[in-house]
Amino acid sequence: MVSVENKRVEDMNYFELLAWLGIGSSHPGGFPATKLNLETVQIKSESYVLDAGCGSGLTACHLAKTTGCQIIGIDISPQMIEKATQRAKKEGVSHLIEFRVADVAHLPFAENSFDWVIAESITVFLDKVQVYKEFYRVLKPEGQVADLEMALLHELPAPLKPQLAECFGPSTNPLSFEEWCHSITEAGFQNVEIKNPQPLKNNGNLIASELKKDWILIKDLADKVSKQPGLIPRLQKNVSFTRRTQGYFGFGLIYGRKPTPPAPPVSPRLGFKRWLLNLIHAKQAK
Ligand SMILES: C[S@@+](CC[C@H](N)C(=O)[O-])C[C@H]1O[C@@H](n2cnc3c(N)ncnc32)[C@H](O)[C@@H]1O
Repeated sequence: MVSVENKRVEDMNYFELLAWLGIGSSHPGGFPATKLNLETVQIKSESYVLDAGCGSGLTACHLAKTTGCQIIGIDISPQMIEKATQRAKKEGVSHLIEFRVADVAHLPFAENSFDWVIAESITVFLDKVQVYKEFYRVLKPEGQVADLEMALLHELPAPLKPQLAECFGPSTNPLSFEEWCHSITEAGFQNVEIKNPQPLKNNGNLIASELKKDWILIKDLADKVSKQPGLIPRLQKNVSFTRRTQGYFGFGLIYGRKPTPPAPPVSPRLGFKRWLLNLIHAKQAK
C-alpha cells in the first residue's frame, strides 16, 4: 500500500488529504464553532471524554487546556494520531490525553466508560445509527453526546450530488436536522436537540485564518505546495463548491443524553412491608 506521504495529491481521498495536511479544524464552522459548542455544553474537569474521529487533536488539546478533563482521542488514520500526539506534547497536555488508532464503528472500550462523547464531522461520512449506537454503548448512564455535523437545509439538486462526493468522498451524506434527530433517537438517546444551528457560510477565509494560527500546519505548508502543485487546485475545488452551494447546507451540534437506567422493580415482599408500615403510621397519626 502506498503511504499517504508518497501519494499524489490528485490520488488522495478526502481523509488522506486532511491527514497529509494535518488540518486542525476540518469541520463546518472551523475552530470558532468548536469553541462556541464547548462553551455551550460546559464539560467539567472530572468528566471522562471520548473525542471520536479526533483528527489532528486541536479540539481535544483545547478542551484539555481549558477544563483539565481526561480525554481519549481516536481516529482511524495513523497519520492523524501521530500529529495529534505531537500536538499534545507540544501544548503540554500529554498527561491529560491519550490518542489511539481506532474505528468509531467498533470502539475498543467497555460499555459505560465515558461521561461525554464529542465528535466533529465524522458521522456524516458513516452509518449514523450504527455509530450513535456505539457512542451509546460506551457512554455511562446519563452520559452525553455532542456531535457537530453538516446538515442539509434544502434538498440538494441531483447535479450537485456527484460534486459533493468528488469534494468530500462518496460516502458523504448530510441529513436534514430532523433526520439527524431521528438517527440519534433511534440509537436510544433522549433529550435530543440541535444546539447552535447555523447556515454554512463560505469559510475559505476562515480556513486561511486558521492555517495562520495553527503552528503544526503552517510550518510545512509551503514545502507541501512546492512538492505537490496539485494541492492548490484541489483546495480551490472544495472552496468553490462550498461557495456555490452554501445556501443548501448548515451545521449544528447534535445532542443527546443516555437515559438513566430504570429503577429495579420493588419486590412484592418489600412492597407489602412498606404498605404495612404506612398503614401503622397512618393509624398512629389519627
Ligand atoms: C473531516 S475529518 C474531522 C476531524 C476532526 N474531528 C476535526 O474536526 O478536525 C474526519 C476524521 O474522521 C476520521 N475517520 C474517518 N472514518 C473513521 C472511522 N471509521 N473511525 C475513526 N475515525 C475515522 C478521519 O481520519 C478524519 O480524521
